[in-house]
Amino acid sequence: MSYDASSNSRYEVLITRRTFPEAAARMREVADVRILDGEEPPTNEELREAVRDMDGLYSHIVDDVSAGIMDAAPNLKVIAEFGVGYDNVDAAAASERGIAVANTPGVLSETTADEAFGLLLAAARRVCEGDRYVRGGHWGPFDPLGLLGTDIHHATLGIVGLGRIGSEVAKRAGGFDMQVIYHNRHRRDDVLDAEYVGTLDELLGRSDFVSLHCPLTAETRHLMGPEQFRQMKRSAILVNTTRGPVVDQKALYEALVAGEISAAALDVTDPEPMAADDPLLTLENCIVVPHVASATVGTRMKMAMMCVDNVLAGVEGRFPPHCVNRAEIEGRSRLEGKSA
Ligand code: 8YV
Repeated sequence: MSYDASSNSRYEVLITRRTFPEAAARMREVADVRILDGEEPPTNEELREAVRDMDGLYSHIVDDVSAGIMDAAPNLKVIAEFGVGYDNVDAAAASERGIAVANTPGVLSETTADEAFGLLLAAARRVCEGDRYVRGGHWGPFDPLGLLGTDIHHATLGIVGLGRIGSEVAKRAGGFDMQVIYHNRHRRDDVLDAEYVGTLDELLGRSDFVSLHCPLTAETRHLMGPEQFRQMKRSAILVNTTRGPVVDQKALYEALVAGEISAAALDVTDPEPMAADDPLLTLENCIVVPHVASATVGTRMKMAMMCVDNVLAGVEGRFPPHCVNRAEIEGRSRLEGKSA
């Protein structure tokens, strides 16, 4: 599609999960909005059906926004993902069809970093275990050797992926006098006091804590597998707030059981939701929370409003403010001799 302005005066927009009334109201000023606010997200079939007459799609991580979904919606101009990660959207297929894909970068970086750091602290100081211990009626007389944790201050934090969120985690680590090392596609000299290490292996071997912040791509799927866990210190703790499939979960379970690493804290799993009988949930040294790193009132509201901005621009035929495939669409338009 060339990225032409549409002549429609009202647009059709689909929001695939419940949202803030303020966000829905803003969208409704210019569009007819359908919100799928059921307990369960739409199945692929339901999504295909619901998207059919839509100009804009406001999607979530639970939606598999495939080429098939796009082909079911001939009017679709924009897909606005609620989140900075958009690995659930086939962005290449969208570009081929001239559909803009947008996300919500920036507004959630600090909130997500807060959560990553919170998980790091909780795992190091065995907060969840302590809480279970008390609730289970096991709190007996003071025990000098009970529930001993790991020091955070002056420890080495290895950050995998020093983007917006990773940089915020690095800042927080500074407050705890940690030494920060990072591995990233590119060296970044703008993040103070963070040492670049050329290989993941070196980072894993040196870190007391490893926090994952790379996006999920074909290259980063199962980035953390059996070999990587073996390279980590036996005392090390893994924190994952990016995407579940970056970690080979079976290998993680085996590493935790074998004592190859000391603990893990996961905001994200593979799949989501994690099954209640997942073996990881039997381990005292594994914390799992349900993909809530960006879940504060303020941040989720900003994300929702950003999605509205992205959708409204897109349905009106403008590039969304946070378009991730503008260059690809413009490139194609040039190839096809169309104006972008
Ligand atoms: C979202 C996230 O809440 O931004 C991301 O990439 O993982 C979260 O902030 C999640 O994607 C829900 O759609």
